[in-house]
Amino acid sequence: MIVVTGATGSIGRALVGRLSGHDVRAVVRRPVADLGGQQALADFDEPGTIGRLLSPGDRLFLNSSLWPGFVDAHRAVIDLAARAGVAQVVAVSVRGAVPGAKLGGGMHGEVDAHLRKSGLPYAILQPTGFMQNLPHEVRDGRFYGSYGPEAVNYIDTRDIAEVAAALLTGPVAASGDHVLTGPESLSHDRIAAEISAATGRAVRYVNLSVPEMTAHLERQGVPQPQAGDLAELMAETGDGRWATTTTAVEDLTGRPPRPLSAFLADHKDAFGRTS
Ligand SMILES: NC(=O)c1ccc[n+]([C@@H]2O[C@H](COP(=O)([O-])OP(=O)(O)OC[C@H]3O[C@@H](n4cnc5c(N)ncnc54)[C@H](OP(=O)(O)O)[C@@H]3O)[C@@H](O)[C@H]2O)c1
Repeated sequence: MIVVTGATGSIGRALVGRLSGHDVRAVVRRPVADLGGQQALADFDEPGTIGRLLSPGDRLFLNSSLWPGFVDAHRAVIDLAARAGVAQVVAVSVRGAVPGAKLGGGMHGEVDAHLRKSGLPYAILQPTGFMQNLPHEVRDGRFYGSYGPEAVNYIDTRDIAEVAAALLTGPVAASGDHVLTGPESLSHDRIAAEISAATGRAVRYVNLSVPEMTAHLERQGVPQPQAGDLAELMAETGDGRWATTTTAVEDLTGRPPRPLSAFLADHKDAFGRTS
């Protein structure tokens, strides 16, 4: 059995679709009409509800969005998976995750460290930023950031799902971390130009200093210290440290990751709702 948590999410939905034909249990908090696989109700806030779905030899896809209880809940599910005799955990983390890092990087760093020590065979997926974020960020023909002029890498979550599917359906591979990137790194001005070309509507990237971006996020309801951390993280991301690309997606799936142009061709209508 392949147990998929976060099954309604951006990666999870694509993964459940890719796993059609396999014995899949999609973990959901409430029943979902348009999702494949057999559904099971469970919640990370009560880790035992996920633990009781696990049997010896199962493969577990471990993923959810972040909330303050994320680290404790994910660690607890890892412990329950080890106790149940799960054969492999494929977990979603983030590029650059390390304990003490800002925002999600720190939380994932704690969970990744716990998984590495668990004795379970594992694959930790460390993707760069998601192309699927972009439609939510463009409003009234603009999107804001403090990335500066340098290139930044984004990945299509469908490629993360394809990596996870390959790992969960093949023989259990040696444990390891996989830094997943898209095929190209682009400046945000270039990303705006590609969105404009794909949607037929002018979109402009507005670069702000870290204090300006912090104030912009606060006006949008992001509380401190997250607003300041997010603005700083954007500036750090834009210093080129994560502009490099890896071959991990192609190595693991046999096909290269999707470029931004392919994402935009498939998602241009999503920009229509917010731009
Ligand atoms: N966004 C980025 O650029 C980026 C970059 C690198 C890594 N990541 C990582 O990617 C992960 C998110 O993946 P995603 O985008 O596929 O997720 P997503 O679209 O945000 O969906 C989150 C999923 O988690 C489920 N979930 C949330 N809280 C839960 C709980 N308490 N119990 C059970 N399920 C719960 C949600 O279920 P419901 O439908 O019930 O809410 C949903 O299925 C995060 O760990 C994030 O740090 C994100």
